[in-house]
Amino acid sequence: MTAFPHLLQPLRIGGCTLKNRIMSTGHDTTLPVDGTVNAALVAYQEARARGGVGLIVLQVSGVHETARYTNHVLMATDDAAIAGYRSVADTVHRFGTVLFGQLFHPGREIAEADGGLLTVAYAPSAVPNERFRVMPRPLKKAMIDAIVHGYGDAARRMQTAGLDGVEIVASHGYLPAQFLNPRVNLRDDAYGGDMDGRLRFLREIIADIRSKVNSGFVVGLRISGSEIDDAGLTEDESFDAVSRLDDGIDYVHITLGTSASLGGAIHIAPPMTMKPGYVVPYAARIKRQSRIPVFVTGRINQPQDAEAIIAGHHADVCGMTRALICDPEMPNKTARGAPEDIRACIACNQACIGHFHKGYPISCIQNPVSGRELRFGVLPTASRRKNVMIIGGGPAGMKAAVIAAQRGHHATLFEAQRRLGGQALLAQLLPGRAEFGGLITNLERELELAGVQVHKGTRVDAAMIAAAAPDAALIATGAKPYLPEFPREGALQIVDAWEVLRARVEVGQSVVIVDWRADWIGIGIAEHLAKLGRSVRLAVGSIVAGETLPFYVRDDAAATLHKLGVKVLPYMRLYGSDSDSVYLQHVSSGEAVVIGNVDTLVLCTGHAPVEELSEALEGSNIDVRVIGDAASPRTAEEAVYEGLVAAAEL
Ligand SMILES: Cc1cc2nc3c(=O)[nH]c(=O)nc-3n(C[C@H](O)[C@H](O)[C@H](O)COP(=O)(O)O)c2cc1C
Ligand code: SF4
Repeated sequence: MTAFPHLLQPLRIGGCTLKNRIMSTGHDTTLPVDGTVNAALVAYQEARARGGVGLIVLQVSGVHETARYTNHVLMATDDAAIAGYRSVADTVHRFGTVLFGQLFHPGREIAEADGGLLTVAYAPSAVPNERFRVMPRPLKKAMIDAIVHGYGDAARRMQTAGLDGVEIVASHGYLPAQFLNPRVNLRDDAYGGDMDGRLRFLREIIADIRSKVNSGFVVGLRISGSEIDDAGLTEDESFDAVSRLDDGIDYVHITLGTSASLGGAIHIAPPMTMKPGYVVPYAARIKRQSRIPVFVTGRINQPQDAEAIIAGHHADVCGMTRALICDPEMPNKTARGAPEDIRACIACNQACIGHFHKGYPISCIQNPVSGRELRFGVLPTASRRKNVMIIGGGPAGMKAAVIAAQRGHHATLFEAQRRLGGQALLAQLLPGRAEFGGLITNLERELELAGVQVHKGTRVDAAMIAAAAPDAALIATGAKPYLPEFPREGALQIVDAWEVLRARVEVGQSVVIVDWRADWIGIGIAEHLAKLGRSVRLAVGSIVAGETLPFYVRDDAAATLHKLGVKVLPYMRLYGSDSDSVYLQHVSSGEAVVIGNVDTLVLCTGHAPVEELSEALEGSNIDVRVIGDAASPRTAEEAVYEGLVAAAEL
């Protein structure tokens, strides 16, 4: 008897049957390079299908030339696209996974320039987009007709390719949502006015699709249950729209947020500060009213949560997208009753949506194979079993040990501290970042499953390595705080971020934080101290606080700092300090900025590698590889990736 009877129950929808209620929702992988499906995307989706997911919704496909919202968006505007779609469909069908396509037009949500040139954006009315600063042209009737036909033609192509259905993207403030929204649709023709008028565009799309596909071909609708923005669709408006449409569609898929504003966009891929399953009440309201299946997505990371949602009749299918990016085998592990083996997503956003926003192919900090299936999807068993010593039990060393052992090597991991995790142990102490500790829990389970020998509380030096004479030594000794030299006069309290996090120091009332990295640490320390009632100035060397962070994490943090009254000083570098002042310099103007009456200066000035061991091993005839922060302090993403690469090459 499974612990997941509802989640693993099949669902009949249109002409197809989902073998379980787990869905990978449409997510732009940035894997395609020329607007068509390529081998990397097929391999990516194959991994998820092999992992047992019931339904894959392919990433957005543009339905009209004006739908190119990024440089790499898939396009379904030409019959030449059919072959690519067919290769994904054939591949995932082999594993019994159902495949839908996403039909997409961004309207005014044009995020990127095409080859450096901004394209002309079209929308129902000339209402500017706040986030991308786009002033769209109002759509003329002829172009509305062309776009509507584009949806139908794209659906026809997808059906021809063997896909099982399509999902109209009316979520996140994209074109259909722009028509629905009375604050964005100011038209006085048949496409504007009351809800009936504003629904006309969607109704025409559905009719056009239906006229071009067979009756069993599924037509679903994705919509934000609320766009969570003052100018966005409200919960009542979304609810009203869905209620009026549900006789035309086969399912409705509820998510949250809008692309149109920095605040609303946070909910597109909600960071770990959002509660797991917080979207569910919006879906449940629609489910109570609706005669069609309701899908729900947003921070559903664990099968236990998904099971409760389906069992509670809050929804019929759960989108678990990042959960599947992080562990494509999650459905199989659920089905075989081994949920403790799942590598749970921690909603860090770093390599999935974080890569998307930088225009890089998708990956996952915990699962660097994601998006790189063609290179690392199958790691060959080692031709000779080697003795491998891995020194340093942070993310780099842990991952390296796992992969080395999985490949058949004799892998032994040494950690000087009593606990594994390295800097992740500290990172999880930052406010709202406790889930980051999941990185360690997941890697500890992987070590156990791979059968790695782990020695904690064991400091390894060059002599021990020489005595053990391993075939290879992977050095993952991490980093320590980097404290720059600067002129100091007087006895101002100067501490580093790690001391504050470990509660080793009593910080004064008036605090200046100097944040060179512009990452989680500076803003986290600022939040922590502001919550303790300190007066906090955060001097960042970047143009905004948290500049290097995934956008939704950054913007979520900006909201928190703003509410807490933290004063952010951008473009600052540390110049010096005296007994009660911190001297800064504006990095562009070179002008001095003096902050007086300071009790404590907190340095978030980055890290330096711990390289004693790697230096001591220089010139030895052992195969030595330095990985992660020990090579150069960066993030957990590089650490885990380099652990994989080093062990894959052994
Ligand atoms: C890398 C990435 C790209 C995304 N692109 C799309 C997209 O193309 N279409 C869409 O409707 N949603 C997109 N989303 C949102 C996801 O479909 C999903 O709603 C989001 O990841 C939250 O679900 P989760 O918490 O299960 O990951 C994207 C999400 C990620 C992480
Ligand atoms: S990068 Fe982070 S948020 Fe994205 S899938 Fe991996 S663990 Fe989840």
